[in-house]
Amino acid sequence: MKKVLQDHFFIRNTRIRNRICVPPMVCYHWTDDSGIVSDRHVEHYRAMARGGAGLIIQEATCITQEGRLADSQLGIWDDSQIAGLRRITEAVHAEGCPIFVQIHHAGIVGIAEHALCPDAYTLRQGGTEKTGVKMQQEDIARIQQAFIDAARRAYEAGYDGVELHGCHSYLMCQFLNSRVNHRDDRYGKNPELFITEIMDGIRNIVPEDFVMGIRLGAFEPTLADGIRHAKALEAHGIDFLDISYGFTGEAEPEKPADFPYKDVIYAAGEMKRQVSVPVFAVNGMRVAEDARGVLAQTDVDMVDIGRSTLVNPAWAADALAGRDTGKCLDCSVCRWRIDADQCA
Ligand code: FNR
Repeated sequence: MKKVLQDHFFIRNTRIRNRICVPPMVCYHWTDDSGIVSDRHVEHYRAMARGGAGLIIQEATCITQEGRLADSQLGIWDDSQIAGLRRITEAVHAEGCPIFVQIHHAGIVGIAEHALCPDAYTLRQGGTEKTGVKMQQEDIARIQQAFIDAARRAYEAGYDGVELHGCHSYLMCQFLNSRVNHRDDRYGKNPELFITEIMDGIRNIVPEDFVMGIRLGAFEPTLADGIRHAKALEAHGIDFLDISYGFTGEAEPEKPADFPYKDVIYAAGEMKRQVSVPVFAVNGMRVAEDARGVLAQTDVDMVDIGRSTLVNPAWAADALAGRDTGKCLDCSVCRWRIDADQCA
Protein backbone atom coordinates (compact mmCIF):
# COMPACT_ATOMS: atom_id res chain seq x y z
CA MET A 1 0.00 0.00 0.00
CA LYS A 2 1.28 3.48 -0.85
CA LYS A 3 2.49 5.57 2.05
CA VAL A 4 0.96 8.95 2.82
CA LEU A 5 2.31 11.91 4.77
CA GLN A 6 -0.10 11.59 7.69
CA ASP A 7 0.62 7.90 8.44
CA HIS A 8 2.09 7.11 11.79
CA PHE A 9 4.52 4.23 12.26
CA PHE A 10 6.94 2.83 14.81
CA ILE A 11 10.70 2.51 15.01
CA ARG A 12 11.22 0.03 17.85
CA ASN A 13 8.68 1.37 20.37
CA THR A 14 8.96 5.00 19.34
CA ARG A 15 5.78 6.22 17.70
CA ILE A 16 6.50 8.53 14.78
CA ARG A 17 3.32 10.57 14.35
CA ASN A 18 3.63 11.32 10.63
CA ARG A 19 6.16 10.89 7.81
CA ILE A 20 7.66 14.39 8.01
CA CYS A 21 11.06 14.54 9.70
CA VAL A 22 13.12 17.61 10.56
CA PRO A 23 16.66 16.53 9.65
CA PRO A 24 19.71 17.61 11.64
CA MET A 25 20.80 21.21 10.97
CA VAL A 26 23.54 22.84 13.02
CA CYS A 27 22.87 26.22 14.59
CA TYR A 28 26.34 27.74 14.79
CA HIS A 29 26.87 30.66 17.18
CA TRP A 30 24.01 29.68 19.50
CA THR A 31 26.43 28.18 21.99
CA ASP A 32 30.05 28.86 22.87
CA ASP A 33 33.13 26.74 23.43
CA SER A 34 31.27 24.88 26.21
CA GLY A 35 28.89 23.29 23.66
CA ILE A 36 26.06 23.70 26.19
CA VAL A 37 22.46 24.17 25.06
CA SER A 38 21.16 27.74 25.10
CA ASP A 39 17.59 29.05 25.47
CA ARG A 40 17.60 29.67 21.75
CA HIS A 41 18.11 25.98 21.00
CA VAL A 42 15.27 25.00 23.32
CA GLU A 43 12.85 27.45 21.67
CA HIS A 44 14.01 26.44 18.17
CA TYR A 45 13.29 22.74 18.72
CA ARG A 46 10.09 23.43 20.66
CA ALA A 47 8.76 25.48 17.73
CA MET A 48 9.38 22.71 15.20
CA ALA A 49 7.77 20.11 17.48
CA ARG A 50 4.78 22.40 18.00
CA GLY A 51 4.77 22.87 14.25
CA GLY A 52 3.71 19.28 13.75
CA ALA A 53 6.88 17.42 12.69
CA GLY A 54 6.56 13.65 13.01
CA LEU A 55 10.13 13.38 14.25
CA ILE A 56 13.01 15.73 14.93
CA ILE A 57 16.63 14.71 14.55
CA GLN A 58 18.71 17.21 16.49
CA GLU A 59 21.68 18.82 14.80
CA ALA A 60 25.17 17.29 14.63
CA THR A 61 26.22 17.23 18.29
CA CYS A 62 29.89 16.59 18.95
CA ILE A 63 31.24 13.55 20.77
CA THR A 64 34.69 15.09 21.35
CA GLN A 65 36.01 18.62 21.31
CA GLU A 66 38.66 17.92 18.69
CA GLY A 67 36.06 16.41 16.36
CA ARG A 68 34.07 19.64 16.10
CA LEU A 69 33.40 21.59 12.93
CA ALA A 70 33.43 24.88 14.80
CA ASP A 71 34.08 26.02 18.35
CA SER A 72 30.44 26.97 18.71
CA GLN A 73 28.80 23.60 18.07
CA LEU A 74 26.55 21.69 20.47
CA GLY A 75 28.36 19.06 22.50
CA ILE A 76 27.64 15.71 24.10
CA TRP A 77 31.20 14.90 25.15
CA ASP A 78 30.77 15.55 28.86
CA ASP A 79 28.19 14.69 31.52
CA SER A 80 27.91 18.39 32.38
CA GLN A 81 26.14 18.86 29.02
CA ILE A 82 23.30 16.43 29.84
CA ALA A 83 21.14 18.87 31.80
CA GLY A 84 20.99 21.33 28.90
CA LEU A 85 20.22 18.58 26.40
CA ARG A 86 17.41 17.40 28.66
CA ARG A 87 15.77 20.84 28.33
CA ILE A 88 15.45 20.19 24.58
CA THR A 89 14.02 16.67 24.92
CA GLU A 90 11.49 17.83 27.52
CA ALA A 91 10.35 20.75 25.37
CA VAL A 92 9.95 18.53 22.28
CA HIS A 93 8.26 15.66 24.10
CA ALA A 94 5.77 18.09 25.68
CA GLU A 95 4.59 18.77 22.10
CA GLY A 96 4.07 15.05 21.40
CA CYS A 97 7.09 14.73 19.12
CA PRO A 98 9.92 12.18 19.45
CA ILE A 99 13.51 13.35 19.10
CA PHE A 100 16.78 11.63 18.18
CA VAL A 101 20.17 13.34 18.36
CA GLN A 102 22.77 13.10 15.62
CA ILE A 103 26.13 12.23 17.18
CA HIS A 104 29.10 13.51 15.28
CA HIS A 105 32.85 13.47 14.78
CA ALA A 106 34.19 15.41 11.79
CA GLY A 107 37.50 13.53 11.38
CA ILE A 108 39.75 15.29 8.90
CA VAL A 109 37.13 17.98 8.26
CA GLY A 110 37.20 19.05 11.92
CA ILE A 111 38.80 22.15 13.48
CA ALA A 112 41.75 20.28 14.99
CA GLU A 113 45.03 21.22 13.36
CA HIS A 114 46.14 17.58 13.36
CA ALA A 115 42.78 16.09 12.57
CA LEU A 116 42.22 12.34 12.77
CA CYS A 117 41.36 10.38 9.65
CA PRO A 118 41.28 6.63 8.92
CA ASP A 119 44.24 7.27 6.60
CA ALA A 120 46.77 9.99 5.78
CA TYR A 121 44.32 11.30 3.20
CA THR A 122 44.88 14.76 1.75
CA LEU A 123 41.78 16.91 1.68
CA ARG A 124 41.82 19.71 -0.89
CA GLN A 125 39.23 22.40 -0.26
CA GLY A 126 39.01 26.01 -1.45
CA GLY A 127 42.68 26.14 -2.46
CA THR A 128 43.95 24.68 0.84
CA GLU A 129 45.34 21.26 1.64
CA LYS A 130 45.14 19.29 4.85
CA THR A 131 46.48 15.78 5.43
CA GLY A 132 44.80 13.65 8.07
CA VAL A 133 46.63 11.97 10.94
CA LYS A 134 46.16 8.25 10.33
CA MET A 135 44.29 6.73 13.25
CA GLN A 136 46.15 4.08 15.24
CA GLN A 137 44.30 1.25 16.98
CA GLU A 138 44.23 3.24 20.25
CA ASP A 139 42.74 6.29 18.47
CA ILE A 140 40.06 4.07 16.97
CA ALA A 141 39.20 2.55 20.35
CA ARG A 142 39.11 5.99 22.03
CA ILE A 143 36.81 7.55 19.43
CA GLN A 144 34.55 4.50 19.37
CA GLN A 145 34.24 4.76 23.16
CA ALA A 146 33.44 8.48 22.80
CA PHE A 147 30.53 7.60 20.48
CA ILE A 148 29.30 4.99 22.96
CA ASP A 149 29.58 7.43 25.89
CA ALA A 150 27.70 10.04 23.84
CA ALA A 151 24.86 7.57 23.23
CA ARG A 152 24.69 6.85 26.96
CA ARG A 153 24.41 10.61 27.63
CA ALA A 154 21.74 10.87 24.93
CA TYR A 155 19.73 8.19 26.69
CA GLU A 156 20.19 9.92 30.05
CA ALA A 157 19.10 13.25 28.53
CA GLY A 158 15.82 11.68 27.38
CA TYR A 159 16.33 11.26 23.62
CA ASP A 160 14.37 8.46 21.98
CA GLY A 161 17.43 7.47 20.01
CA VAL A 162 20.61 8.48 18.24
CA GLU A 163 21.50 8.98 14.62
CA LEU A 164 25.14 8.18 13.84
CA HIS A 165 26.53 10.83 11.49
CA GLY A 166 27.83 8.58 8.72
CA CYS A 167 27.81 10.94 5.72
CA HIS A 168 28.82 14.43 4.43
CA SER A 169 32.59 13.70 4.51
CA TYR A 170 32.82 13.23 8.29
CA LEU A 171 34.69 10.53 10.19
CA MET A 172 32.38 7.54 9.71
CA CYS A 173 32.04 8.45 6.05
CA GLN A 174 35.84 8.58 5.78
CA PHE A 175 35.98 4.95 6.94
CA LEU A 176 33.28 3.89 4.47
CA ASN A 177 34.70 5.60 1.38
CA SER A 178 37.26 3.42 -0.41
CA ARG A 179 38.94 6.49 -1.96
CA VAL A 180 39.76 7.80 1.52
CA ASN A 181 40.25 4.60 3.50
CA HIS A 182 43.21 2.59 2.19
CA ARG A 183 44.02 0.89 5.47
CA ASP A 184 45.39 -2.63 5.21
CA ASP A 185 44.06 -3.74 8.60
CA ARG A 186 40.56 -5.00 9.42
CA TYR A 187 39.14 -1.43 9.41
CA GLY A 188 40.19 -1.16 5.78
CA LYS A 189 39.18 -4.66 4.71
CA ASN A 190 35.80 -4.26 6.43
CA PRO A 191 34.90 -0.56 6.02
CA GLU A 192 31.73 -0.87 8.14
CA LEU A 193 33.65 -2.33 11.13
CA PHE A 194 34.39 1.03 12.78
CA ILE A 195 30.63 1.66 12.84
CA THR A 196 29.40 -1.85 13.68
CA GLU A 197 31.70 -2.03 16.72
CA ILE A 198 30.21 1.27 17.92
CA MET A 199 26.70 -0.13 17.34
CA ASP A 200 27.58 -3.18 19.48
CA GLY A 201 28.96 -0.95 22.23
CA ILE A 202 25.84 1.22 22.25
CA ARG A 203 23.45 -1.74 22.23
CA ASN A 204 25.25 -3.16 25.27
CA ILE A 205 24.49 -0.12 27.41
CA VAL A 206 21.11 1.24 26.32
CA PRO A 207 17.68 -0.32 26.86
CA GLU A 208 15.97 -2.31 24.11
CA ASP A 209 13.64 0.57 23.17
CA PHE A 210 16.41 3.05 22.41
CA VAL A 211 16.63 3.67 18.66
CA MET A 212 19.93 3.63 16.78
CA GLY A 213 19.98 4.76 13.17
CA ILE A 214 22.49 6.25 10.78
CA ARG A 215 22.71 9.04 8.22
CA LEU A 216 24.51 7.33 5.38
CA GLY A 217 25.98 8.50 2.10
CA ALA A 218 24.15 7.21 -0.95
CA PHE A 219 27.14 7.48 -3.29
CA GLU A 220 30.21 6.27 -1.44
CA PRO A 221 31.55 6.72 -4.10
CA THR A 222 28.89 4.84 -6.09
CA LEU A 223 25.31 3.88 -5.29
CA ALA A 224 26.36 0.20 -5.34
CA ASP A 225 28.79 0.99 -2.48
CA GLY A 226 26.06 2.85 -0.60
CA ILE A 227 23.70 -0.10 -0.96
CA ARG A 228 26.38 -2.50 0.25
CA HIS A 229 26.94 -0.39 3.37
CA ALA A 230 23.19 -0.11 3.96
CA LYS A 231 22.74 -3.88 3.78
CA ALA A 232 25.72 -4.56 6.06
CA LEU A 233 24.42 -2.11 8.67
CA GLU A 234 20.92 -3.54 8.44
CA ALA A 235 22.32 -7.03 8.98
CA HIS A 236 24.05 -5.65 12.06
CA GLY A 237 20.81 -4.27 13.51
CA ILE A 238 20.60 -0.62 12.48
CA ASP A 239 17.05 0.68 13.07
CA PHE A 240 16.77 3.18 10.20
CA LEU A 241 18.74 4.60 7.30
CA ASP A 242 18.62 8.35 6.61
CA ILE A 243 20.12 8.74 3.14
CA SER A 244 22.11 11.81 2.12
CA TYR A 245 25.36 12.59 0.27
CA GLY A 246 28.64 10.85 1.02
CA PHE A 247 32.24 12.03 0.84
CA THR A 248 32.17 15.35 -1.00
CA GLY A 249 33.97 15.38 -4.31
CA GLU A 250 34.36 11.62 -4.38
CA ALA A 251 30.79 10.77 -5.27
CA GLU A 252 29.39 9.47 -8.52
CA PRO A 253 25.74 10.55 -8.48
CA GLU A 254 23.34 8.67 -10.68
CA LYS A 255 19.63 8.78 -11.48
CA PRO A 256 17.41 8.16 -14.49
CA ALA A 257 16.81 11.27 -16.60
CA ASP A 258 13.06 11.22 -15.98
CA PHE A 259 13.24 11.01 -12.17
CA PRO A 260 11.93 14.45 -11.08
CA TYR A 261 13.68 14.73 -7.69
CA LYS A 262 17.30 14.84 -6.57
CA ASP A 263 19.70 11.95 -7.34
CA VAL A 264 20.04 11.35 -3.60
CA ILE A 265 16.28 10.82 -3.29
CA TYR A 266 16.38 8.35 -6.18
CA ALA A 267 19.19 6.56 -4.35
CA ALA A 268 17.17 6.37 -1.12
CA GLY A 269 14.37 4.75 -3.13
CA GLU A 270 16.79 2.22 -4.61
CA MET A 271 18.13 1.40 -1.15
CA LYS A 272 14.61 0.91 0.16
CA ARG A 273 14.09 -1.81 -2.46
CA GLN A 274 16.96 -3.75 -0.91
CA VAL A 275 16.38 -3.32 2.84
CA SER A 276 13.41 -3.66 5.13
CA VAL A 277 14.28 -1.07 7.83
CA PRO A 278 12.75 2.43 7.49
CA VAL A 279 14.54 4.65 4.97
CA PHE A 280 14.46 8.47 5.05
CA ALA A 281 14.94 10.62 1.95
CA VAL A 282 16.17 14.21 1.84
CA ASN A 283 17.04 17.15 -0.31
CA GLY A 284 15.24 19.87 -2.13
CA MET A 285 11.66 19.11 -1.08
CA ARG A 286 10.12 22.54 -0.67
CA VAL A 287 6.31 22.21 -0.72
CA ALA A 288 3.87 19.50 0.32
CA GLU A 289 3.50 18.34 -3.29
CA ASP A 290 7.23 17.51 -3.39
CA ALA A 291 6.95 15.42 -0.23
CA ARG A 292 3.84 13.63 -1.50
CA GLY A 293 5.50 13.08 -4.87
CA VAL A 294 8.56 11.48 -3.28
CA LEU A 295 6.37 9.11 -1.27
CA ALA A 296 4.41 8.26 -4.42
CA GLN A 297 7.47 7.66 -6.60
CA THR A 298 9.61 5.76 -4.10
CA ASP A 299 8.80 3.44 -1.24
CA VAL A 300 10.74 5.46 1.37
CA ASP A 301 9.22 5.75 4.84
CA MET A 302 10.06 9.31 5.80
CA VAL A 303 10.73 12.63 4.07
CA ASP A 304 13.20 15.05 5.64
CA ILE A 305 12.22 18.70 5.27
CA GLY A 306 15.24 20.78 6.27
CA ARG A 307 15.60 24.39 5.18
CA SER A 308 11.89 24.84 4.52
CA THR A 309 11.23 24.03 8.18
CA LEU A 310 13.73 26.74 9.15
CA VAL A 311 11.68 29.16 7.07
CA ASN A 312 8.41 27.90 8.56
CA PRO A 313 8.65 25.81 11.77
CA ALA A 314 4.99 24.80 11.23
CA TRP A 315 5.75 23.39 7.75
CA ALA A 316 4.55 19.92 8.77
CA ALA A 317 1.23 21.05 10.28
CA ASP A 318 0.58 23.30 7.28
CA ALA A 319 1.39 20.52 4.79
CA LEU A 320 -0.85 18.02 6.60
CA ALA A 321 -3.73 20.52 6.74
CA GLY A 322 -3.38 21.45 3.06
CA ARG A 323 -2.33 25.04 3.85
CA ASP A 324 0.41 27.00 2.11
CA THR A 325 3.67 25.89 3.72
CA GLY A 326 5.97 28.61 2.44
CA LYS A 327 9.34 27.32 1.28
CA CYS A 328 13.09 27.73 1.31
CA LEU A 329 14.24 29.84 -1.61
CA ASP A 330 17.84 28.54 -1.57
CA CYS A 331 19.22 31.88 -0.39
CA SER A 332 21.70 30.02 1.86
CA VAL A 333 21.44 32.48 4.75
CA CYS A 334 20.80 29.53 7.05
CA ARG A 335 24.09 27.92 6.15
CA TRP A 336 25.88 30.67 8.02
CA ARG A 337 23.36 31.86 10.56
CA ILE A 338 20.00 30.32 11.16
CA ASP A 339 17.65 33.27 11.20
CA ALA A 340 14.70 32.30 9.10
CA ASP A 341 13.35 35.84 9.16
CA GLN A 342 16.43 36.92 7.21
CA CYS A 343 15.63 34.62 4.31
CA ALA A 344 14.57 36.27 1.08
C1 FNR B 1 22.49 21.14 7.26
N1 FNR B 1 22.59 19.76 7.03
C2 FNR B 1 23.09 18.94 8.03
N2 FNR B 1 23.12 17.59 7.86
C3 FNR B 1 23.49 16.77 8.84
O1 FNR B 1 23.50 15.55 8.67
N3 FNR B 1 23.85 17.29 10.07
C4 FNR B 1 23.85 18.63 10.32
O2 FNR B 1 24.11 19.06 11.44
C5 FNR B 1 23.51 19.49 9.25
N4 FNR B 1 23.53 20.85 9.42
C6 FNR B 1 22.97 21.69 8.48
C7 FNR B 1 22.83 23.05 8.75
C8 FNR B 1 22.20 23.89 7.82
C9 FNR B 1 22.04 25.32 8.13
C10 FNR B 1 21.72 23.34 6.61
C11 FNR B 1 21.03 24.21 5.59
C12 FNR B 1 21.88 22.00 6.32
C13 FNR B 1 21.95 19.16 5.84
C14 FNR B 1 20.44 19.04 6.07
O3 FNR B 1 20.13 18.10 7.09
C15 FNR B 1 19.70 18.59 4.78
O4 FNR B 1 20.21 17.33 4.39
C16 FNR B 1 19.90 19.60 3.66
O5 FNR B 1 19.59 20.91 4.10
C17 FNR B 1 19.02 19.27 2.43
O6 FNR B 1 17.65 19.24 2.79
P1 FNR B 1 16.66 20.48 2.46
O7 FNR B 1 17.14 21.65 3.24
O8 FNR B 1 16.76 20.72 0.97
O9 FNR B 1 15.30 20.01 2.88
